[in-house]
Amino acid sequence: MAPTACNRQPQRIFVIESEEALEKFRKCTRSHFHAPLAILVCFDKNECWKREYDGKPSGDIDASIVCTHMMLEAADLGVGSTWVMHYIPEAVKTEFELPDHLESTALLVMGYPKDGVMPNPLHDKTKPIEDMVRFL
Ligand SMILES: Cc1cc2nc3c(=O)[nH]c(=O)nc-3n(C[C@H](O)[C@H](O)[C@H](O)COP(=O)(O)O)c2cc1C
Repeated sequence: MAPTACNRQPQRIFVIESEEALEKFRKCTRSHFHAPLAILVCFDKNECWKREYDGKPSGDIDASIVCTHMMLEAADLGVGSTWVMHYIPEAVKTEFELPDHLESTALLVMGYPKDGVMPNPLHDKTKPIEDMVRFL
């Protein structure tokens, strides 16, 4: 149900669940955490909307909104997830044989959290609201 610019729905989603696919995934990033499942979220460069004034494409934004929706749904189902951007884009392209019109946005690493685990220490480090929001 994630919104996309002009409802173009350019997201293309690959569920990495077979051992063969997981092996390929682990070649693409150090942040794999030996997870039992990952989701590669891409967008189709030919399908996404582009702003006519400067040509800015919506693809990464659309795909990111999709990612956050999936992460929130996963959390509701008791599944932990981590957004991973620290991956080798060329490796993703090669390992998953992405055609040129698909660009990757994120790898979502999923799994059931072990009992008693704590979030990343950065989780509670929030900048003061004044650093981020200005009322004009
Ligand atoms: C765009 C983006 C890229 C990220 N890339 C990585 C990554 O490559 N590896 C990783 O372990 N965590 C990654 N993270 C997770 C962040 O480190 C984490 O969200 C942040 O430290 C705050 O913790 P929290 O999500 O528990 O609040 C990424 C998060 C975002 C939003």
